[in-house]
Amino acid sequence: MENLKIGIIGIGNMGSAHANCIARGEIEGMKLWAVCDIDKTKIAEFKKIYPDVNSYSDFNQLLKDKNLDAVIIAVPHPLHSKMAIKAFENGLNVLLEKPADISVSKVQLLNKAAKETGKVFSMMFNQRTHPLFCKAREIVNSGKLGELKRVNWVVTNWYRTQHYYDSGDWRATWAGEGGGVLLNQAPHNLDLLQWICGMPESVVGFCDVARYHNIEVEDDVTIYLKYKNGATGTFITSTGEFPGTNRLEIIGEFGKIVLENNLLKWWQLNESERDFCYKSNKSFAAIDYDYSEYKNEDSESGHKGILQNFANAILFGEELIARGEEGINELTISNAAYLSEWLCNKEIKLPMDNKKFDKLLNAKIKSSAFESKNDSVKLTENYKERWQVNW
Ligand SMILES: NC(=O)c1ccc[n+]([C@@H]2O[C@H](COP(=O)([O-])OP(=O)(O)OC[C@H]3O[C@@H](n4cnc5c(N)ncnc54)[C@H](O)[C@@H]3O)[C@@H](O)[C@H]2O)c1
Repeated sequence: MENLKIGIIGIGNMGSAHANCIARGEIEGMKLWAVCDIDKTKIAEFKKIYPDVNSYSDFNQLLKDKNLDAVIIAVPHPLHSKMAIKAFENGLNVLLEKPADISVSKVQLLNKAAKETGKVFSMMFNQRTHPLFCKAREIVNSGKLGELKRVNWVVTNWYRTQHYYDSGDWRATWAGEGGGVLLNQAPHNLDLLQWICGMPESVVGFCDVARYHNIEVEDDVTIYLKYKNGATGTFITSTGEFPGTNRLEIIGEFGKIVLENNLLKWWQLNESERDFCYKSNKSFAAIDYDYSEYKNEDSESGHKGILQNFANAILFGEELIARGEEGINELTISNAAYLSEWLCNKEIKLPMDNKKFDKLLNAKIKSSAFESKNDSVKLTENYKERWQVNW
């Protein structure tokens, strides 16, 4: 079978990593056919290394390349849905970087376009391939934790300096990025949260703007979640704490799992806590449990796993690890957290009022200081390390 011909739109930090990976032949069934970037210097540098790969400065031209089978979109988030919709209209399969876009209403249109064309649509939620998150999902889905009671995720090890925020004019502005830590770093975690525990019924958000950096958007967030069965949750994230924490704790009727330090710990109760609570004739009692641990030995970033899965889905109909349509879920939580913050921390019931959200977001975009100078720089130092799941 012939290799799929892949086009990449945006060859900045992430797009160039995908391009290198494919060009080096690390993804079976994929050939890097074309790249596109509005930054001519990046294209020129790229062509020096890969002279045989076609290049474009206008994504519309790339999409018209009749040889292409699929595109990977790795440009600033507010451009995601627009480009993906155009790609579907040109009959292409799409792998889209996270987040799907900046507002749920835009992603609803994207999902509609994807459905209508029936093309393969995947999101780059690379942390879904991490063995410990897969294990957590398997345990929750198996029902072995029983009814969920509470989920807490403190993921504050997304530490970023001012230098990072100054590295691209679009970063951390309402018009250029559409948000801060919730739109850039936390989409991975919010996606895993909903992938493992399901969607909440309501959200309260505290999104602290410019608490630690000279930026327009939030860099410190606390979200309260409520689920249909009465379970509650907290999600805390920040780019201003060092050293940070990455600890996910899920508690159910039959025990608890904790993911921290690259280890999943599982306390599995021998009977239902709810039954035990009413049946025990002691005031202070403990329930018998089995304890087990799972360590992750895999050091892959996960991007390769998603790229290979995308290729296999197109070529052989393999089930997608991250279906494109699911990109809307984590964005729903972050949009709701913003709306809650903007409405004096009101509880936002889902589905939320997207029109109200868009109106308030657009007001922020209008007053944004962002002015594209197309001056994003390559974040060379340790950039790759940021893609691993850090503990
Ligand atoms: N999955 C992950 O682990 C991961 C990691 C980093 C970034 N990302 C995502 O990738 C996307 C890009 O982030 P980045 O860090 O690579 O940013 P970046 O600024 O380094 O790269 C973006 C590139 O897009 C180009 N671009 C902008 N507008 C364009 C247009 N209209 N047409 C063609 N090219 C255009 C820019 O010139 C730049 O080269 C973001 O959405 C981000 O969330 C994902």
